[in-house]
Amino acid sequence: MSLINKALQFGGRTIPNRVVFQPMEGCDCQSDGTPGELTVKKYENAARSGAGLIWMEANAVCPEGRTNPGQMMLTEANLSAFRGFVASLKKIAKEECGIEPIIILQLTHSGRQSIVPMIAYRHPIYEEKRPVTDENIVSDEYLDTLAPLYVRSALLAKEAGFDGVDVKSCHGYLFQELLSAFTRPGRYGGSFENRTKLYLDCVKAVMDAVGNDILVVTRLGVADMVPKPYGFGTTENNELDLTESDMLIEKLMELGIRMLNVTIGNPYYNPHINRPFRLGAYNPPETAAEGLARFITVESHLKEKFPELVVIGSGLSYYREDLMEKAEEQLASGVCDLVGFGRGSIAYPMFYRDWLEGKFDPKKCCVACSKCTALMRNKCVSGCAVFNDYYKQLYKEKVACKK
Ligand SMILES: Cc1cc2nc3c(=O)[nH]c(=O)nc-3n(C[C@H](O)[C@H](O)[C@H](O)COP(=O)(O)O)c2cc1C
Repeated sequence: MSLINKALQFGGRTIPNRVVFQPMEGCDCQSDGTPGELTVKKYENAARSGAGLIWMEANAVCPEGRTNPGQMMLTEANLSAFRGFVASLKKIAKEECGIEPIIILQLTHSGRQSIVPMIAYRHPIYEEKRPVTDENIVSDEYLDTLAPLYVRSALLAKEAGFDGVDVKSCHGYLFQELLSAFTRPGRYGGSFENRTKLYLDCVKAVMDAVGNDILVVTRLGVADMVPKPYGFGTTENNELDLTESDMLIEKLMELGIRMLNVTIGNPYYNPHINRPFRLGAYNPPETAAEGLARFITVESHLKEKFPELVVIGSGLSYYREDLMEKAEEQLASGVCDLVGFGRGSIAYPMFYRDWLEGKFDPKKCCVACSKCTALMRNKCVSGCAVFNDYYKQLYKEKVACKK
């Protein structure tokens, strides 16, 4: 049997196969955070794709932590809508694929990328693109208020029928920025203990609150690839340095975390690190092969160092028509335990099911141009602007015309 199709027992649940729909924010929810028409469509596609794990996109734990007015946000007020949404996804997967996928909700505070930036410290590199002032620095007292908000969101997620929550720290959002807050004074900056405190406190608070009722997992940016003291997991010369990342993962494991969705880089600053490019206007400072090799280095290191940790691999969409072979190869060599597809899953949502049914069409695969990102950056709803006519037209009207 192909390794991709092999079920995985995790936290008392069964993940029916190794395919993960990675979180892909669509900025298409209603103003109160309820999934909108396009959101529902995307996840219905995910449900009928046969993927074993659907890692739902960034869901803000509070209104001021939203990146955009269309960001997902589960609250007491829209709980019943979410409950219906999750139940309908499970029903579709059961009816059409005969499986029950695990559905995880990603909990986030967008920090510097919030509508009004809420930053951990002054960052000369990021601020070249998005200027801020000292007024945007969040106080220790504000940070103290966040753990209960994560707990509230996690309990709501449980009520809504999610199988688990992701306490997210990656891509330059608030928790990730705190990991590199070397220059921040006070209780959340400076030492390793202070910089990791909020993330670990929130993981612990969520775990204590939900017990064994739902899974608690994490998506962690193990290296920002932004030079120290302005990046985590990176040296002053901008080289990978996983010393602190390992220390942090040890702490997460002490708290009981057993699944890590690995990511690297900051898509607002060095997008090629997180999503290697094949086509498009952006000219990355490294080859895609270098970027892909970094993922393998990081993931292999983690699997070796933490054999008990279930690792989800990222960055696979680049492989285009070879993505299933590469995924199988990575599983076979033990680089990761599950394989995550981001851009690839919105370009060709049925890729896995088609592959299972012998109908895989290489021409439908993601071309790794990241027009989906460009839509987001231009404050539009986001989707595949190559293979989906709706987003293709939107890209033409709102992005291409600016060039
Ligand atoms: C449009 C877009 C939206 C994304 N939204 C999220 C998100 O909500 N949460 C997250 O952790 N990663 C997000 N990502 C990152 C992806 O999950 C994934 O890590 C990245 O695209 C690299 O994988 P790929 O090469 O398979 O696309 C997003 C990426 C893109 C392009």
